Amino acid sequence: ETIKDKNGIDQVILRQARGASVRISLHGGQVLSWKNDRGEELLFTSSKAIFKPPTAVRGGIPICFPQFGNRGSLEQHGFARNRMWRIDDNPPPLQSSEMDTDANVDLLFKPSDEDLKKWPHGFEFRLRVALVTEGSLILVPRIRNINCKPFSFSIAFHTYLAISDISEVRVEGVETLDYLDNLFDRERFTEQGDALTFESEVDRVYLSSSDVVAVFDHQKKRTFLIKKEGLPDIVVWNPWDKKAKAIGDLGDEDYKHMLCVDGAAIEKPITLKPGEEWTGRLELTVLASV
Ligand code: BG6
Repeated sequence: ETIKDKNGIDQVILRQARGASVRISLHGGQVLSWKNDRGEELLFTSSKAIFKPPTAVRGGIPICFPQFGNRGSLEQHGFARNRMWRIDDNPPPLQSSEMDTDANVDLLFKPSDEDLKKWPHGFEFRLRVALVTEGSLILVPRIRNINCKPFSFSIAFHTYLAISDISEVRVEGVETLDYLDNLFDRERFTEQGDALTFESEVDRVYLSSSDVVAVFDHQKKRTFLIKKEGLPDIVVWNPWDKKAKAIGDLGDEDYKHMLCVDGAAIEKPITLKPGEEWTGRLELTVLASV
């Protein structure tokens, strides 16, 4: 199902037979909503979100590409999240056919001439978004070099999870990992704790994490599993109160109800030779916990 938002931008809605749903905007190829079969929203959207392009909506899953953060020549987090994508009616088949029978859509992003002036590398970025029977949300990015010289990129699925209260959540799967701390100029540290909990701003890139990271939300009795392939790093971000106030499109108290946990490839950029394609995979599952 395709609908238009208030600004005339197409959004695709996928529905799963048991009631789960996902809504994706063609602006940025950004997932804006993911609901479980009880209709509960699982992704955070800012109370001050701006739905007008070119800025990406603060919430859902903006895609950071081809640059993460402000290290590089491009705008913060690259341009893919700020551009219009389109539906790809005839995508090349995916290697794994597991998602073919479920609710899914294929999107395509190609850089404009303006983009190519800033970043002179021809590419096609395909994104399959699928909702499977159990209600898991699967994103399969495919990036192909259609140029005659190699290029390198970073990527992150900047996933804003909806949580009850930031003080009540815990992230498991990053213990003992090295991380780059964005609050200390990307200095490298080693995670010492058993699980990551929050009592101030956190802005880190955990390096080469395990394939599954879990976010436990005690109050909501909910566990998110973030399963990933080809995305070695995990970004964990919560702005906390001071930074939240400084971000124009984030409500002052919103930081309590969001946690960004991104499957990403940042520390070691991915290099594609001419004609080569990279495929990643991100699977988000939510479980009820007791
Ligand atoms: C994080 C960055 O991943 O994304 C932060 O490390 C940044 O520094 C945040 O503030 C949000 O970025 P943006 O561009 O969407 O405000």
